[in-house]
Amino acid sequence: MTGAGLEGIVAGQTAVCSIAGKLIYRGYSIDELSVGADFEEVAYLLLHGELPSYDQLGEFRERLGAAYVLPEPVVELLTKLPSATPFMDVMRTACSVLAHYDADVNDDSRAAEMRKSERLVAQLAIVLATAYRLRTGRALVAADPDAGIAENLLTLIHDRKPDPRAIRALNVSLILYAEHEFNASTFTARTVASTLADLHSAITAAIGALKGPLHGGANERVLEVLEQVGAPANAEQWIRDALANKKRVMGFGHRVYKDGDPRTKILDPWCAELAASTGNQAMEQVAATLERVVRAEKKLPPNADWPSARLYYYLGLPVETYTPLFVVARTTGWCAHVMEQHGDNRLIRPMAEYIGPPERPFVPLERRS
Ligand SMILES: CC(C)(COP(=O)(O)OP(=O)(O)OC[C@H]1O[C@@H](n2cnc3c(N)ncnc32)[C@H](O)[C@@H]1OP(=O)(O)O)[C@@H](O)C(=O)NCCC(=O)NCCS
Repeated sequence: MTGAGLEGIVAGQTAVCSIAGKLIYRGYSIDELSVGADFEEVAYLLLHGELPSYDQLGEFRERLGAAYVLPEPVVELLTKLPSATPFMDVMRTACSVLAHYDADVNDDSRAAEMRKSERLVAQLAIVLATAYRLRTGRALVAADPDAGIAENLLTLIHDRKPDPRAIRALNVSLILYAEHEFNASTFTARTVASTLADLHSAITAAIGALKGPLHGGANERVLEVLEQVGAPANAEQWIRDALANKKRVMGFGHRVYKDGDPRTKILDPWCAELAASTGNQAMEQVAATLERVVRAEKKLPPNADWPSARLYYYLGLPVETYTPLFVVARTTGWCAHVMEQHGDNRLIRPMAEYIGPPERPFVPLERRS
């Protein structure tokens, strides 16, 4: 019998990403990617396996730009969903429905899967922006086909041209959320793909897995905690009470990284810069106190959701968009894994250790008490 939650189990091979020692995407360190690349370059790298040339990137951006225009029935569906539908559920539903309007819906060739993957990355970003605009009663406006995903998201959510530092910060966050080996949602996508189900089914299932608070849903919970604490003066008492009451503090701990998540080191300076430029230093002080106490008392370092939530807050993004933004980023990694799984497939079907009652005789209904 293996450890609960498949801890420590190597469940397959991948050429997409390694988290052993360093976090690398297809051989490139996130330290370099998060400084030198845009999200689109990283998306291309994950999907195609190599960094794009100048021309390849231009063509990729054009394909993404074309996919910003959602099929009309999908937009109409978004207008009809109940007004309180959580955005993660909107993303999941939209992903599933987008399959029906995809020109390659019945083609599972490698080339068609690549086209579908590229479209889905762009489409899911626009689904989020569209859902947000509808929710806030604003007119739908077209995304700019010449602008990247980060810039379009900020423009469409805020209704104004974003500051270049904000665009860069969101690019960095999307890069760091893009891929992470066999996490729960990616493993879900691969399991679905391993039955030879289609790409949209695998990504729809992955969105469902990402939603949970132990996975992607943690970033929204982090912000709730920081807002609940409020002033820096409350922080020490709040976190000591939470730990005394055995509360799980969102944004801390990781199944694999026991000594620290390499993504936090990259995001922390961004949080400091944006907090300073937006007058949010008090939240940084609260975060520092919570981090100090959780490290000291539980030996738990923060994970990527801890700085990501603050970064999004300082960017003025509404909290209900945080996990959907993770979806937009991770769709690149999920699609890369689905194509890798389909490229060398064997059904994923582990076994369970049975712990139920031993075999016993069937009792007909009329003799059951
Ligand atoms: C991510 C996570 C699920 C990984 O945990 P895991 O390796 O499966 O570890 P477990 O859930 O088995 O927890 C092991 C112990 O550490 C504690 N622990 C783990 N994360 C904790 C946290 N964030 N806050 C408080 N205690 C925590 C557990 O309570 C448990 O303590 P116990 O042995 O006294 O019961 C876990 O750290 C967590 O729930 N974190 C908060 C959610 C989060 O930020 N998720 C995003 C992950 S990137």
